[in-house]
Amino acid sequence: MSNVSSLVSPLGRLAGKAAVITGGASGIGASTACLFHENGAKVVIADINDNKGEALVNKLGENDCYIHCDVTKEDDVRNLTDATISRYGRLDVMYNNAGILDCPMSTILDITKEEIDKVIGVNRVGALLGAKHAARVMVPQRKGCILFTASACTAIAGLLSGNAYAVSKHGVLGLTKNLAAELGQHGIRVNCISPYGVATPMIVPNEAEVTNMEQTLTGMGNLKGETLKPEGLAYAALYLASDEANYVSGLNLVVDGGFSIVNPTMMKAFNLIH
Ligand SMILES: NC(=O)c1ccc[n+]([C@@H]2O[C@H](COP(=O)([O-])OP(=O)(O)OC[C@H]3O[C@@H](n4cnc5c(N)ncnc54)[C@H](O)[C@@H]3O)[C@@H](O)[C@H]2O)c1
Repeated sequence: MSNVSSLVSPLGRLAGKAAVITGGASGIGASTACLFHENGAKVVIADINDNKGEALVNKLGENDCYIHCDVTKEDDVRNLTDATISRYGRLDVMYNNAGILDCPMSTILDITKEEIDKVIGVNRVGALLGAKHAARVMVPQRKGCILFTASACTAIAGLLSGNAYAVSKHGVLGLTKNLAAELGQHGIRVNCISPYGVATPMIVPNEAEVTNMEQTLTGMGNLKGETLKPEGLAYAALYLASDEANYVSGLNLVVDGGFSIVNPTMMKAFNLIH
């Protein structure tokens, strides 16, 4: 990196890049879509929630578009990457972010095969299919960036997610590492972002309860005086997608205010936690 200032275009940190975001209609994905757009990217929002996806793209502008895509269906994912290439002539960033939660606080005894299939289908198989079809078009480009949203449950247990969710997100982390090795040979970087709890519709379907949930999560968190919001993850994605991260690959960027590296037992015993 000889000249850092030359990496940041006045038009934005993603100027001229085409970026696909699955699960882009809501929460972390929607926030990332807005930030990528502000930074000059042409954004393809992919989701199954057509109303929310279309409403967001209408807000963003004509350089961006919405494509219906169920990440569990390979034909949808193939169409998503092909349509991006037809429209923009390139695919620079594929952010595999779509995800669902299993039943929080469920135990291994409660889990049903139906729930396992559903969660693994969206979170893990969906991520694999997204990576496969991104790689199909990025390998000939000899450049590209694949991102995933995993979870802080890849770094610490006891986050109240169920076992199917934990399996799915550890799978995403394994995929990140395996692909960073395989696709590094083709100039493609692969990273994942692992959020601590953030009050999106996934965990707070009722908007009126967002503030309460944020206070609860901040109270349980390690870092005081700050609250994790979807934009906090969007900025992590922006960094990883930009040329500023041109030598970053295989990383699990845990955005959790240090939660997963602290065992508070001793601090509690000595009354060091306020
Ligand atoms: N919110 C959190 O606390 C948290 C913490 C860790 C990780 N995550 C992860 O972040 C990612 C984004 O979640 P969020 O919190 O923004 O939730 P969200 O519910 O606001 O957004 C998820 C989006 O994914 C879409 N989606 C669901 N199934 C899909 C499918 N089959 N195909 C395409 N799109 C589909 C939904 O329609 C929705 O728009 C997920 O992978 C989630 O597991 C969230």
